[in-house]
Amino acid sequence: IKKIGVFTSGGDAPGMNACVRAVVRTAIYHNIEVVGIMRGYEGMINGEFVPLETQSVANIIQRGGTILKTARSKDFMTPEGRKKAYEQLKAQGIDALVAIGGNGTFTGATVFEKEYGIPAVGAPGTIDNDLSGTDFTLGYDTAINTVIKAVDAIRDTAESHDRLFFVEVMGRDSGQIALATGIGTGAEAILLPEVKFDLERLYDRLEKGRRKSAKIIIVAEGDEAGGAFAVAEKVKEKFPQFDTKVSVLGHIQRGGSPSCFDRMLASELGFHAVEALIAGQKGVMVGKIDKKIVYTPFAEAIKDEAKMDVEMLRMVGILAS
Ligand code: F6P
Repeated sequence: IKKIGVFTSGGDAPGMNACVRAVVRTAIYHNIEVVGIMRGYEGMINGEFVPLETQSVANIIQRGGTILKTARSKDFMTPEGRKKAYEQLKAQGIDALVAIGGNGTFTGATVFEKEYGIPAVGAPGTIDNDLSGTDFTLGYDTAINTVIKAVDAIRDTAESHDRLFFVEVMGRDSGQIALATGIGTGAEAILLPEVKFDLERLYDRLEKGRRKSAKIIIVAEGDEAGGAFAVAEKVKEKFPQFDTKVSVLGHIQRGGSPSCFDRMLASELGFHAVEALIAGQKGVMVGKIDKKIVYTPFAEAIKDEAKMDVEMLRMVGILAS
């Protein structure tokens, strides 16, 4: 390998910069050139390349977002788009890729590698923690800590007013953020996309809960009930006596300085992604399970069946009662 292209793609996540830094410095250590591909697959198609040196990644380990920018590329989903991307990479002499992103990123990388054979290794970068092949994805730890800070603040005011709050957290298809932060904030209930919405159960939980005190319900954005506003409407009809409020946390969850955990994980995964490419690995995501670095084929990594521990919800019910 002579020249690695590194890019971030999909939703940004705290820790992406730390990962880019690790990729660049590991590659340079091994006498491999590194090129940053701006805006993920979009920049690959449009030829937005920047050479990266050791100093280009100085002072970014602590920064949220991604210095390489990111995008969700529609063009890369078409054969024409991927052909253009290949031609751009070839013209640049890029002979290997490190892809930092989530499901969409690795789906694209799989197809591209099959079509054009440029080896790619992935690092899991998404606040959703919805990839197999790693206990944690980059950004998840920071995001859940951002959420609990916000919900703690909401609980203060909820407590003062005896209000019922529906707090919507991110996770279009994944309830990982909702589950962790619901447990971490002592929520009265957690609604997740992975679990069938049971309105009667929620009513029951609210009825039996401590009457005159604040209540926090964490709702994942992708919950089948249709998000926090939709659930709150239903609950308002049933319990007009509750002073019900909705708070959608939104993109605050995606930004901010990465936690130490995310910086460490990002450094390790970036480092191992480059060493894996050098060792001849391709079509895999590097992750960490039980303190060990593991390599999982992209197709397996994007399946997220095993990770949601629904049993925990039973515990939530008991602890909140
Ligand atoms: O995948 C990360 C994520 O933040 C999801 O939790 C959320 O559903 C989605 O991205 C939002 O995407 P966008 O910022 O493009 O609206």
